[in-house]
Amino acid sequence: MVRTVDITTTSQWRTLQALGAAHTELGLRRMFVGDPSRVSRMTHEIGDLVVDLSKHLVTPEIVEQLLGLARFVGLTDQVRAMAAGERVNTSQDRPALHMALRAPPDAVVVVNGRNIVEDVHRVLHQMDKFTRCVRAGEWLGATGRPIDTVVNVGIGGSDLGPAMAYEALAAFHHRQLRCRFVANIDAADLESALVGLDPATTMFVIASKSFVTSETIRNAISARRWIVDRLGAAAVGRHFVAVSANAQAVEAFGIGPENRFDLWDWVGGRYSLGSAIGLSLMLAIGPEAFRDMLGGFRTVDEHFESMPLECNVPALLGLLGVWYRTFCDLPTRAVLPYCHGLRSFPTYLGQLDMESNGKRAGVNGAPISYNTGAIVWGEAGTRGQHSFHQLLHQGTTVVPADFIVMARPSHPTRSVDREVHETEAHNDQLVANCLAQSTALAFGRTAEETAADTAPALVGHCTFPGNRPSTMIMAPRLSPSVLGQLIALYEHQVFTQAAIWGINPFDQWGVELGKTLANSILADLNASATNEQNPMSAAITSTTVGLQPAATNEQTSVSAASHGNHDASTTALISRYRSMNTG
Ligand code: F6P
Repeated sequence: MVRTVDITTTSQWRTLQALGAAHTELGLRRMFVGDPSRVSRMTHEIGDLVVDLSKHLVTPEIVEQLLGLARFVGLTDQVRAMAAGERVNTSQDRPALHMALRAPPDAVVVVNGRNIVEDVHRVLHQMDKFTRCVRAGEWLGATGRPIDTVVNVGIGGSDLGPAMAYEALAAFHHRQLRCRFVANIDAADLESALVGLDPATTMFVIASKSFVTSETIRNAISARRWIVDRLGAAAVGRHFVAVSANAQAVEAFGIGPENRFDLWDWVGGRYSLGSAIGLSLMLAIGPEAFRDMLGGFRTVDEHFESMPLECNVPALLGLLGVWYRTFCDLPTRAVLPYCHGLRSFPTYLGQLDMESNGKRAGVNGAPISYNTGAIVWGEAGTRGQHSFHQLLHQGTTVVPADFIVMARPSHPTRSVDREVHETEAHNDQLVANCLAQSTALAFGRTAEETAADTAPALVGHCTFPGNRPSTMIMAPRLSPSVLGQLIALYEHQVFTQAAIWGINPFDQWGVELGKTLANSILADLNASATNEQNPMSAAITSTTVGLQPAATNEQTSVSAASHGNHDASTTALISRYRSMNTG
């Protein structure tokens, strides 16, 4: 939504600037003692999630001013516009309809005169049929044997979501079917994924919305060679399927239309786990569990669309993100899942949040004058406690943190026998650590308290400042539905932040320059290798562009054309590379 009034001129913005400048004077100990209802007032339930916001460095006045900003930007109307299919991704002139991916079959969302919910359910049905067939051992490879390994080849949103969810939902895996994920252009990634695999029982899922992403196409070509060399060219149809919006490029690669699972330009890569990009996940956990995950997404979508702002959890989380980043000038946010299954969740959220909100131009393209997107990072607890938590507790930078914890351990992994007994005892210890970390961060330990049991010379070292804010998210157990709820919670937090900042969270122009330069450098690294290195380039360049405005594909071409006029440093490094590479 293009604004007519500059948000920085509003009274709420000015008040928050003053409050933010004084945020170091806020004291969580004082706020807890002064308001016995703080915890119940600031703890929310959304689906299966309990979200405790009481340990945030905010007063009722700050929350009220933040809500005022949400009202000023018309957050509720913006959510409605997104859900209704308006072209909220303005720089690419597209809707952003990830919520339609989890809409019930009778919902109606019209885009260009077409009810796209019908398309969504048509593809879900195709996925359902295909995954049942593979999981039942009825899909036979070229030699007549069933598939036992799925290799997902994709990058960014076509990898991070399915890979993270595959790990998270290990308890739901099919016993005889495992998945591996290949993303990096470094050959070591594909090579290590192929170790020990039998081509006769391996299926590749090439996941790329655009089907021109250089890493994915390079890896797909190498994977195809691996199959063709061992099973012959005719085997490709039994060992490759594609998830892509680019029918032409998929066909040029050698995958027939019956083995392509469609998606659409109104699904952003980082919002696409609920689409056919989740095919590898569905193969692993089955269509029922996949639909449970979609149901979890939907629970939070409905909450986001219908709840008043004061108790709208994703909106409140987004407003807190704006408070810390823009008004308190805190550059990063840590995501700390105390749940081994969620160990890749911080990386997944890194793309979701930073590719969406890491922007310095407003919706109208003009530079904005305040800080946007935080750096999102993290690690599973308790591992992080033994590496970077020192800085969280006593460093000079305050890092707001999100803790995520499950009340009960995951179900036993189906694909391996349970080796670890006393799981409940492990879980109690895990949860105790999680709660202890958020307590220590929030309330710290004063010098007087420290002096009671510490040698005087160590008091300065052993004092904890406290007032380090955190969210605590607790759920009963990491089920497919809970995972869907968590993801949707963060998607809508990201949307809320973008709405306040006045940026478009659905484009990612910042990734394009590097791709264009890599293509021109590639040509100069080994001038004779251009087309051999990119055998797909002829098939796909017609669909691609470089840095072009609106409505273009998300990707640039993989074809390499030297410009030859690099800066002095890059030219020297190219020359060093050539001599080291041949020496
Ligand atoms: O380079 C950024 C990006 O466009 C991401 O937004 C996307 O998730 C990723 O590349 C992969 O894109 P594709 O699915 O088209 O290969």
